[in-house]
Amino acid sequence: MTYRIAVLVGSLRQASWTRKVALAMQKLAPASLAFEFVEFGDLPAYNQDIEESGTLPPEWVRFRDAVRDTHGVLFFTPEYNRGMPGFLKNAIDVGSRPYGKSVWSKKPGAVASVSPGLIGGMAANLSIRQPMVFLDVPMMQQPEAYIGNVATLFDDAGELKSEDAKKFFTTFIHGYAAWVERFQAK
Ligand code: FNR
Repeated sequence: MTYRIAVLVGSLRQASWTRKVALAMQKLAPASLAFEFVEFGDLPAYNQDIEESGTLPPEWVRFRDAVRDTHGVLFFTPEYNRGMPGFLKNAIDVGSRPYGKSVWSKKPGAVASVSPGLIGGMAANLSIRQPMVFLDVPMMQQPEAYIGNVATLFDDAGELKSEDAKKFFTTFIHGYAAWVERFQAK
């Protein structure tokens, strides 16, 4: 069985380290996981008046459709001011509505935070776990992924060069595959 995984990367930057980590994980993932990168930099800010008007921005519709039928959700996030970037929180909010029709509900999830700094985006990582509790997304607890000093892990061509990082990314993404498997109806 192949599981379709909605992959959300919380950086719009062309040279994003976070996206490099996501792409490296994709290469190391088992064949059971099909990464589907869902873009969301174009989502208009969530506004309940627009929801109730019945005429939805096409970007919201596209985003909800892209996530709805996947088997799981994987977040890769940088840290902005000790939290997740605002546009990623907006995407989580857009996907959560209308009330009762959240696209997130019960999808097995995981998060890896990424930073050039020492702490590995720990606060951003935890800031994603918080809304996921309310949204009924079972988030993989272990291994946690706080990927610090990220600039030292890649070579100039953008390839993962650190053997330790390769080992850890492999453990993380295979752990997530097992987590996804666990939540499928038998
Ligand atoms: C940052 N950065 C940052 N880093 C960190 O470890 N903790 C933080 O709280 C912040 N805060 C922060 C706020 C804002 C507005 C910006 C633009 C940046 C630095 C950040 O980790 C760095 O720019 C990364 O390279 C961003 O990730 P990408 O775009 O390379 O994936």
